[in-house]
Amino acid sequence: MQQIDTLIIGAGAAGLMCAATAGYRGKSVVVVDMGKKPGRKILISGGGRCNFTNENAQPENYLCKNPHFIKSALSRYSSQDFIELVERHGVEYHHKTLGQLFCDDSAQNIVDVLMTECEWAGVDVKMRNEVLSVSKQDESFHVQTTENTYQCKSLVIASGGLTMPKLGATPIGFNIAKQFGLNVLPTTAALVPFTLHDHDKQRFDGLSGISIPTKISSECGTEFKENILFTHRGLSGPAILQISSFWQAGQAVTINLLPDSPIQDLITEWREQNSQKSLKNMLSTILPKRFIEAMVSHAEIFDKAINQLSKDDVYQLAEYLHQWQIKPNGTEGYRTAEVTLGGVDTDELSSKTFESKKVPNLYFIGEVIDVTGWLGGYNFQACWAQGVACGQAV
Ligand code: FDA
Repeated sequence: MQQIDTLIIGAGAAGLMCAATAGYRGKSVVVVDMGKKPGRKILISGGGRCNFTNENAQPENYLCKNPHFIKSALSRYSSQDFIELVERHGVEYHHKTLGQLFCDDSAQNIVDVLMTECEWAGVDVKMRNEVLSVSKQDESFHVQTTENTYQCKSLVIASGGLTMPKLGATPIGFNIAKQFGLNVLPTTAALVPFTLHDHDKQRFDGLSGISIPTKISSECGTEFKENILFTHRGLSGPAILQISSFWQAGQAVTINLLPDSPIQDLITEWREQNSQKSLKNMLSTILPKRFIEAMVSHAEIFDKAINQLSKDDVYQLAEYLHQWQIKPNGTEGYRTAEVTLGGVDTDELSSKTFESKKVPNLYFIGEVIDVTGWLGGYNFQACWAQGVACGQAV
């Protein structure tokens, strides 16, 4: 049995950040992970370039039963702090849209930063080490893995959520929480594409690959201004992923297909310059032609010469284009979702240290807890901030 100060379950974003922070404080730290390589989700994130933070990350960008919970950690370790870390390691990066930062080269750069920090801090990262059981005996935890048994003073659960089971997602974090009497909130897949009912599949057939800038809103009133993407499985794109975190089964989402140009104004313009042209042709100048053709062929949008449009026609068209409603059939679920909504109830944890209020020296960080960020680097920023806060406390 190996005796150490801190054992961390999960060599992902949260676990590695926590390990390096604790290691620099002189703690003996071991990270165990069942995967072959550390940071597997980091490696596939951001299309292989890792959207590693968001410059505008604020508590408002996170979903959590307690909206104040994430404030303390985020204020103590900001996106600027992580940017300084990657700069110290010479990682080149670029700004995309909406405050999102990506590696120029590869997501491997971020894993290298974390692994180098762990090495400098004297952390032992043990891969291919599945955790089989955890127990508490007197003041210490005993953790049995496929390779070893550890006795540690503090135990950090950074084992992630349920997304992407093929990358090693397991419910172990939720099971450990329940084993020690902590409440776990129901979980669902979030930042996930929508699947469609048969009638929508038929009318969107052939539209795969089309992307449209929109403003999308949920029934609870949350709005995002981003692109939707038609895929052969349903609807995706950043707007859909964002709104999926706020969507519940049976609800509709409302899509403004022309968020920056009221159709009434465009028609007034067209009446002056192109009054003989057909509505279909003119709409195809501002929206993808294939999309407009499909909507006309399904009689969702009528076609007339611009100079024949009545007031009622314009009203109907405005309602359609600015308040297009889709009722998704469901989501693609954990298989393709980026994050897990819900998880270990933050009421059970200290917002300063992430320690369980009921079980001293037991900590939960990262996707396993009920803190879920928007799309755009917010989830990694939460992992860095929680990892540092916890690593300073263990
Ligand atoms: P994470 O899941 O990374 O790590 C948990 C680790 O625990 C895993 O390595 C797993 O093997 C290990 N484990 C589980 N059970 C175990 C057991 N029984 N024994 C031993 N080990 C065990 N976010 C963002 O901010 N920007 C982005 O660009 C993206 N992009 C993105 C793309 C895709 C495709 C996905 C799926 C997700 C993203 N995300 C993202 C979200 C981000 O990846 C996610 O929030 C973090 O990776 C969560 O990090 P954690 O450290 O909490 O868990």
